[in-house]
Amino acid sequence: MIQRRTVLKTGAALTGALGGAGLLVPAMSSPAQATDLDPTTIPQFQQAMPVPKVLQPTRVSGTTSYYEMTMKEADAEILPGRLTRVRTFNGNFPGPLIKAVSGRRVVVKQTNGLSVPASVHLHGAHVPQSSDGSPMDLIAPGGGTKTYTYPNAQPHANLWFHDHAHHLESETVYRGLTGFYLLTDDVERSLDLPSGTYDVPIALRDARFDDSGQLVYSMGDFMKRTVLLANGRAWPYFAVAARKYRFRLFNTANLRFFTLQLSDGSAFQQIGSDGGLLEKPVDVTSVTLSPGERADIVVDFSRYAAGTRLILANTAPMLPGDPADQVGRVLQFRVTGPAVDTSSVPATLRKLPAPGSATVNRSFELSMDETGATMDAFINGKAYDMDRIDTEVEYGATEIWTVHNANVFTPHNFHIHLVQFRVLERDGKPVTSGPESGLKDTVAIPPGGTVKLQATFTGYEGTYVYHCHMFDHAAMGMMANFRVTKNPSTT
Ligand code: C2O
Ligand code: CU
Repeated sequence: MIQRRTVLKTGAALTGALGGAGLLVPAMSSPAQATDLDPTTIPQFQQAMPVPKVLQPTRVSGTTSYYEMTMKEADAEILPGRLTRVRTFNGNFPGPLIKAVSGRRVVVKQTNGLSVPASVHLHGAHVPQSSDGSPMDLIAPGGGTKTYTYPNAQPHANLWFHDHAHHLESETVYRGLTGFYLLTDDVERSLDLPSGTYDVPIALRDARFDDSGQLVYSMGDFMKRTVLLANGRAWPYFAVAARKYRFRLFNTANLRFFTLQLSDGSAFQQIGSDGGLLEKPVDVTSVTLSPGERADIVVDFSRYAAGTRLILANTAPMLPGDPADQVGRVLQFRVTGPAVDTSSVPATLRKLPAPGSATVNRSFELSMDETGATMDAFINGKAYDMDRIDTEVEYGATEIWTVHNANVFTPHNFHIHLVQFRVLERDGKPVTSGPESGLKDTVAIPPGGTVKLQATFTGYEGTYVYHCHMFDHAAMGMMANFRVTKNPSTT
C-alpha cells in the first residue's frame, strides 16, 4: 500500500500544480499511454442495448439456489465494431442477473480468475459479515474461491453486486466487475407491474477509452469519462413497443451523477428506489442517481406513434466544457408499434413501517482535500483503517445518523452496509414523500448538504463499513467500520 499511496500523492501534486481541475477531484496522472479515443468518432445509437443475462442456478434444493461464477477478463463490444478488455463475472459485461426470492437462500461460489484480489459485496443486502464481501475479506487472484450465503431475509429490493477490495475496488469496478441481483417477494409479485420482457434492468456508467479502444483508468478522472454506457454499450438504442415498461436503473459509475429525463420532457412514474417499491408512485419528469443508487421507473410509450425516437437524456449539472452531445445522452428509445398491455401501476404499491423512535444520535462529516495537494479523503477527519472500529453499535438499536458534506465543490454520497435506512430529513426539511421516502441504502449529499438517516441494526452481529459510494473517494479513504454487537464497548 505504501507504494500506491506514494504514487497517489505524486499524481495529486502534479494535478495540483496545474490548478483548476485539481480543485474538484485531483486526477492521478496516468502511466504513459496511447492517446485518447475522440468520443465524437463513436457512432451513437448504432447498437442495440442488450438486456442482462439471467444466471441459472447449478443446483436447487427445497430452501436454496446454488450459483457459480468465475471472475475473469473478457472482451466486450462496448464500442461498435471494436473489442475492449474488461473484468467480468462469467464473461458478461455488465455482469449477469440473479433472480432471488425473499425467504429463499442463495449461495454463490465465486472463483477469482483475475490477476488482482477481489471481494464480492452484495449492495443493499442484509447478510452476515462472513458473506458481506467487505474490503478486508479478499479472494486471492489466480483461482481463489469463496462461497457467499445470502439469506434473503428482507423484503424485495433492487440489489447489485460488485468488487469491494479496498484500494482496488475503484479500478476493478470501473473495469467492469458488477452484476444485478433482483430480489422479489409476494408484495411485489401481487402487483400487475410491467413484467417479463417489459421489465428491463439498465446499468448506467461512464468510461474513457484510448485510441485502441481500451479503457483508461485514472483516479478522480470523471471529467474525461465522457462516454456513457447503458448495459455495457456506448450510447445504444432500445426498441420498445407502444406500451408501459418498467426500467430498473442502476448507477454503477464510480463518480458520475445522472439526472435522467426523456428528451421531450414528458412525465413518467417513479415506483421504487434502492430498497424496493415506494409506498406510492410519484409522477416525475426526471430522476437523479448518485453512484450506487437505483431508481425503478415506469414509462408509458403508448402516447407515441410508431417510429418515434426519443432520447433518455442526462441533465445532471455538468462542468463547463463537459460535452453535452456525449454526457447529455444515455440511450435512444425507438418506438416500434402497438402492443397489448394489461399491466397497471396501482395508487398504493406497498406499506412501509413507520420509522419508529431512535435511541442514539451520531454525526458524520465527509471531507476530502479539494486543493489537490493530497489524495486524502475522510469521515470525521479520519481516513479508512481496516483495523480500526469507528462506530460501536448495540445490536437491535435504532439510530439517527446525521451526515454532512463539508466540501465546497465536491458532491459525496453515503452508503451503509447491512441495513436499509430511511431518509428523515434533507437539509433540515422532513422527507415524507417522493423518491427518497422509501427504503434506501445510498443517499446523495451535495456540497454543504446534510441528511438525517434512521436505521435499525439487527439480524447479525459483526463488522461492516459505511462509505462514500463514489468509489474513487472510498479508495482515497472515505470509508469507516462499524461493529454491531450485543455488548458494545463505548466509543
Ligand atoms: Cu456498493 Cu460498500 O458498496
Ligand atoms: Cu465522495
